[in-house]
Amino acid sequence: MLELKVDGILNEISSNSDKLQSNRRKKIHNNINERTIYGADWLGWLDKTPIEGVFKEITQVSERLKAIKPNVLVVIGVGGSYLGTRALDYALSPHFESDSKIEIVYAGLNMSGSYMKELLHYLAQKNVVLNVISKSGSTVETAIGFRILEEYMFERYGVNAGERIVVTTDEYQSNLRTIAKDKGYDLLSIPSNIGGRFSVLTSVGLFPLAMRGHDIKALLKGAERAKQDLLKDNNIANDYALYRYLLYEKGYKIELLASFDPKLKYFHEWWKQLFGESEGKDNKGIFPASALYTTDLHSIGQYVQEGEKNIFETLIFIEENDKDIKLPFRQEDSDKLNYLAGKTLNEINRTAIRGTIKAHDQGGVPVLELKLQKLDEYHLGYLIHFFMKSCTMSAYLLGVNPFDQPGVEAYKTETQKLLKDDKS
Ligand code: PA5
Repeated sequence: MLELKVDGILNEISSNSDKLQSNRRKKIHNNINERTIYGADWLGWLDKTPIEGVFKEITQVSERLKAIKPNVLVVIGVGGSYLGTRALDYALSPHFESDSKIEIVYAGLNMSGSYMKELLHYLAQKNVVLNVISKSGSTVETAIGFRILEEYMFERYGVNAGERIVVTTDEYQSNLRTIAKDKGYDLLSIPSNIGGRFSVLTSVGLFPLAMRGHDIKALLKGAERAKQDLLKDNNIANDYALYRYLLYEKGYKIELLASFDPKLKYFHEWWKQLFGESEGKDNKGIFPASALYTTDLHSIGQYVQEGEKNIFETLIFIEENDKDIKLPFRQEDSDKLNYLAGKTLNEINRTAIRGTIKAHDQGGVPVLELKLQKLDEYHLGYLIHFFMKSCTMSAYLLGVNPFDQPGVEAYKTETQKLLKDDKS
């Protein structure tokens, strides 16, 4: 399913790690399991998911919406309200899409006027439905995006536009929840004990992914399997967290998540939010960065190999991939590639992985390897839960609360103040 491997520098560091850290890890693990740790009110994503019930609720709404025969779903949301959806949809979709699936486009993730103007222009030719997602129901980017797009929908579709709008928000209360009830929009709930960046496997991600035709049951099943596998203290999520912590203590302040499959491009973005927002506080935390290899070996690869030694790498690679192509043999061999003729691209890529690990190890860069068996819903569900679990452990090892984001709140408050001042 998922394997974690370390060698070289990391083996050395971890073999020197004292018993104290292992005991701390165990204590934290137990406190998480018993929900006695600070921040435990936000551990809802660890609970068993009632898969059939969740599936039924999501499918009811998605089937009703699909009956309108839309070709575009606009997902309005920012941070944890869209990154997981984008990550999974991108990983599970073909690189070059020409099928008749519903396309997802994103809004409310920035404040760019040109982005919104061009989006509205694009939507003019499409049959559009909307899903606005906000746990708090008051995030300014999302609210602005929704106001503009809601107006657009009513102008375009008249009094029936409300049938095309689905609201996803906190299960008990939010401004958005009140709006949805008043206007009679379909309403999907986010459990109150699950925060934004831990919410992709709730209606936040499941509804748009179901609209795209992805197998959301398999996603949930993969996550449930991970919940089981990671129950005991001795598990790979805790190992990964402890390696990160030991590296951080040794001065490795930047983690570069790198993949050899371009389909993980947005998965990196989801991962960066998860770790960055959970750990970067109280003047602590590993800075999460990402790269796509082999592409980026020709750009920041230079820095990784020979730059300042404050980076460690986590490499994700996918073991099984049924799509592949062979390099053809050519009589004249003018490009001098015949030594590779007959090999497949995936085989060559796998050799590049080995070469990269060797080179970076020799360059003094600690490398952690994560091997995921397959890139499908089940395994991605597993991987998502793995990272959420290890991120939680990692933040607690650092001594910070993984589930708040006071720094983001500061930006929101200051911007709102300025916007209000500008008005007066
Ligand atoms: O992880 C988080 O909590 C944040 O990144 C939120 O997801 C983000 O700020 C959006 O918040 P909301 O869903 O309340 O609009």
